[in-house]
Amino acid sequence: MKRFLIIGHKALTTGSFSLNDMPGSAGRMDVLCRCVNSCFFLSHDLRRDVECFLVLLGEPDAPKTVKFSGEKVRYLNPDERSAGSLLQKALALPCTETFRESTRGVYVRRGGLKELLEEFRDEEGNPIFAILDENGSDIREIPPETTPTAFILSDHMNFTQEEEEMIKDLKRISAGPKVMHADHTITVILNELDRKNL
Ligand SMILES: C[S@@+](CC[C@H](N)C(=O)[O-])C[C@H]1O[C@@H](n2cnc3c(N)ncnc32)[C@H](O)[C@@H]1O
Repeated sequence: MKRFLIIGHKALTTGSFSLNDMPGSAGRMDVLCRCVNSCFFLSHDLRRDVECFLVLLGEPDAPKTVKFSGEKVRYLNPDERSAGSLLQKALALPCTETFRESTRGVYVRRGGLKELLEEFRDEEGNPIFAILDENGSDIREIPPETTPTAFILSDHMNFTQEEEEMIKDLKRISAGPKVMHADHTITVILNELDRKNL
């Protein structure tokens, strides 16, 4: 399974946003919708072995996490409004600390980065996630056996001080020398994993 965790620092935590104004009044929800699409869409196919976690930190009820499962997801089409509409439905549900399905393959719960870091650990008890960072180790230089398959990205903003503290011991992986949009970075990373047969 490949996993991408994207932090939406201003993304609203209510479903009552307009699909016509996701970049503005929804706190750059458009960035997160594009990340969802990059996680899953191939030409005429869907990546079933990917999970995408959106950590939403905007008003009025942060933090919330929405999970998209490539294996289970339905009703997702390759445009921003489609992902936005599934997010609206997820965020309209009352939520607890346990994931609750809103539409097929889309789940919502209360909590954010801290909970995901605690939950996804390897046999030695370390978080499985690596940070995507243009200054990290070049993914092309890492052998397939030790290449991470779970990654954390920020949206259009920098990681906060508090987030940096939580992720300071994680590996940092670069997809290339230029700073790219988060969704483009996901596409590049998935392509690198494809090339490594992971
Ligand atoms: C648009 S960038 C963030 C921009 C940055 N915080 C700023 O305002 O200068 C979104 C995310 O994509 C990832 N990213 C962008 N370029 C990358 C690269 N070349 N290698 C690895 N990750 C990259 C990082 O995780 C980053 O947080």
